[in-house]
Amino acid sequence: MKLCLLLLLCLCRLGLTEEFTPAADVAEETEEEVRGCGGRVFSPEDHRAIGGAVEQLGLRLLEKLPVGLQQPNVVLSPLSLALALAQLTLGARNETEKLLLENLHALNLPCYHHVLGSLLHHVSNTSLEVAARMYLRPGFEVKLSFVEDSLARYQSSPVPLVSVKEVNQWVENATNGHVPNFLESIPHDVVLMLANAVYFKGEWQTRFDPLVTSKGVFYLDNQNSVSVDMMKSAQYPLRLLDDPELEAQVASFPFKGNTSFLIVMPLPGRGNVSSVLPKLNISDLYRRLPQEKTMQVNLPKVKLQYRQELEEALTNMGLGSLFSGPDLSGISDRPLRVTGVRHASTIELSEEGVEASATTVVTSMRSISLFSINSPFFFALVDDASMTPLFMGVVTNPAPDDDPMLNDDPGRNSTMSDQPLMDDVGERDIDSERGHRQPLQSMSGLDGKTE
Ligand SMILES: *[C@@H]1O[C@H](CO)[C@@H](O)[C@H](O)[C@H]1NC(C)=O
Ligand SMILES: *[C@@H]1O[C@H](CO)[C@@H](O)[C@H](O)[C@H]1NC(C)=O
Ligand SMILES: *[C@@H]1O[C@H](CO)[C@@H](O)[C@H](O)[C@H]1NC(C)=O
Ligand SMILES: *[C@@H]1O[C@H](CO)[C@@H](O)[C@H](O)[C@H]1NC(C)=O
Ligand SMILES: *[C@@H]1O[C@H](CO)[C@@H](O)[C@H](O)[C@H]1NC(C)=O
Ligand SMILES: *[C@@H]1O[C@H](CO)[C@@H](O)[C@H](O)[C@H]1NC(C)=O
Ligand SMILES: *[C@@H]1O[C@H](CO)[C@@H](O)[C@H](O)[C@H]1NC(C)=O
Repeated sequence: MKLCLLLLLCLCRLGLTEEFTPAADVAEETEEEVRGCGGRVFSPEDHRAIGGAVEQLGLRLLEKLPVGLQQPNVVLSPLSLALALAQLTLGARNETEKLLLENLHALNLPCYHHVLGSLLHHVSNTSLEVAARMYLRPGFEVKLSFVEDSLARYQSSPVPLVSVKEVNQWVENATNGHVPNFLESIPHDVVLMLANAVYFKGEWQTRFDPLVTSKGVFYLDNQNSVSVDMMKSAQYPLRLLDDPELEAQVASFPFKGNTSFLIVMPLPGRGNVSSVLPKLNISDLYRRLPQEKTMQVNLPKVKLQYRQELEEALTNMGLGSLFSGPDLSGISDRPLRVTGVRHASTIELSEEGVEASATTVVTSMRSISLFSINSPFFFALVDDASMTPLFMGVVTNPAPDDDPMLNDDPGRNSTMSDQPLMDDVGERDIDSERGHRQPLQSMSGLDGKTE
């Protein structure tokens, strides 16, 4: 599994003819906080509080991002976005600072910058590569305190903005080659760019056998499907939960090291990915996930790219004033505004892992359940210690470049045959019906229950 992402936040001068505006001297509060927190060591509880805030930020953004035919899949890093907005917060004052902290869900979190910095340190020590940079247009007068705080809290080092080529090179390098040619040009009025890149390469605790991977059906909706490479395992240890509240199946796949991959797959016909987002609470799901159990698992092999300007989604979240007239007087005495927030990411799910799953074991199991990820799902890569979603997204079409096919049995409203039903999942005996469809009656029974 590989995930990588780049986020770039551009700021430009607000009107080159603006009068020189002296900065309001309101840095005290921030500096007070900064001083009061110095030297403290933060506990796992502190990190979990920030993890919850990062999750909220990510989910609220995800709700605002369009998912549809044009853009069927979304991959973002709430942590990377939190890093960019938090860095901006270091230079924000008055209402702008408050608005940012509100959207970071940080209003009630003491020492936010210090704890987030410490969390970033923790995850980059265990699982993630995080790189941050601050590009400054030569001649732009930036406040020293902003540069120092950015460096101290977020390891964002200042570098002169010299050329598109140089920026693209850094991006390509920081994302291990996954994001080439990120920018075509840099508008002349851009004076400051805050960039960060996160890269994750993980191995499943239990890997899939590539020899068993074969074509399988992924249902886009009840009419259309695509053919995808399905990674399969007959006996995979997994924590699986059928959540009647979310009307979804929830599973957590552990990676080597202390991260795991959470999948939430709404039951077809009951809910959809958009309708579960407002209800998600990752730490609550982890708390409720049962013990690991051996089961049959099918997981699509995916390789997806995502690029998106986030201005509209952030505006819809309530951060519109960043793009019009924010108070960023902690960065510079000259008025600034954010001109763009550009984002690129990739995700690759493959068989690689640590130990083989016991595909060849032939113990006779009386009853084994099946988890087949064959319809749109939400995912999150979670740092287990802090419950921080390092990445999250939705996959509604794992093969966006292929033409969808009509479901193979158009006479039926739902052909999600190997989709276990809510009531009997976990207990279904697949020995007797391996490869067979769910009986029709069950599907109409499900229809009956929804209405
Ligand atoms: C910021 O707030 C301070 C008081 O908190 C006020 O004196 C100052 O005028 C404000 N600055 C702006 C630009 O609104
Ligand atoms: C980084 O991780 C190693 C072990 O994985 C640990 O010994 C070390 O203390 C950690 N460093 C920090 C700063 O957390
Ligand atoms: C690329 O990144 C590596 C570490 O990620 C760093 O050591 C190296 O100097 C970088 N190269 C360039 C050209 O930036
Ligand atoms: C994972 O977490 C456990 C305890 O929570 C710890 O003992 C172990 O060192 C961690 N592993 C890594 C690779 O950080
Ligand atoms: C998802 O479900 C909600 C309500 O259950 C519905 O309003 C919405 O149209 C559905 N979205 C899609 C893409 O089917
Ligand atoms: C999520 O669940 C946890 C534990 O159940 C709870 O403490 C937390 O407040 C919940 N978060 C939200 C945003 O509801
Ligand atoms: C299939 O859907 C149509 C309309 O959506 C409905 O009239 C019909 O009863 C459904 N058939 C079954 C078997 O559920």
